[in-house]
Amino acid sequence: MARASIIKPRWAWALTGSGHYFTQSLAMIRDLADVDVFVSKAAAEVLRMYREELALPPTARLYRDTTASAVPVGNFYHGDYHTLVVAPASSNTVAKCVFGISDTLATNVFAQAGKCRVPVMVFACDTAPEQETRAPEGMVKVYPRAIDLENTARLKAFAATQVVETLAELGAAIAARQAALRHG
Ligand SMILES: Cc1cc2nc3c(=O)[nH]c(=O)nc-3n(C[C@H](O)[C@H](O)[C@H](O)COP(=O)(O)O)c2cc1C
Repeated sequence: MARASIIKPRWAWALTGSGHYFTQSLAMIRDLADVDVFVSKAAAEVLRMYREELALPPTARLYRDTTASAVPVGNFYHGDYHTLVVAPASSNTVAKCVFGISDTLATNVFAQAGKCRVPVMVFACDTAPEQETRAPEGMVKVYPRAIDLENTARLKAFAATQVVETLAELGAAIAARQAALRHG
């Protein structure tokens, strides 16, 4: 079967190993046409633990975290993306992004988006002192630490970076970006 044509610029989406809103984020990816998905090693493990399938649309491309230098980030240098979404963003990825560390595929795409002036949306999941999250065996209660909440607050000060804290906010941010792109 012929490969679907690749339209550029397109969405870039980084999936991290946060079980919180993992399934819902996957559903949002599937609703987007023309998306490249960057999967952290932890996200690939969480995917298996939740027995989820990526099941991406034919117009999507998938990049896994298999190289030390994050080779696929080269796409950012060629203007392939109009927007990066990091969702769900684990507290690990948020912390690394805040401190300028880029040693995974997800943190590398965040850093390269910043350096290439591609607008970013980050769905930070550790955003309340107490919350319910999904473990492989069901819902559990977790208590994000002060450092997790502080890092989310710090990320909000980054240029061209929209930090959202709920699925509804993420959906609205994506819809607003789609509308802005349609109207040039
Ligand atoms: C089933 C499962 C669920 C997890 N859920 C979360 C979560 O909701 N939030 C979080 O910050 N980390 C969560 N983790 C831990 C992250 O996967 C871990 O910190 C990992 O190092 C993140 O790597 P990444 O940021 O490169 O994807 C979870 C781990 C497992 C195994």
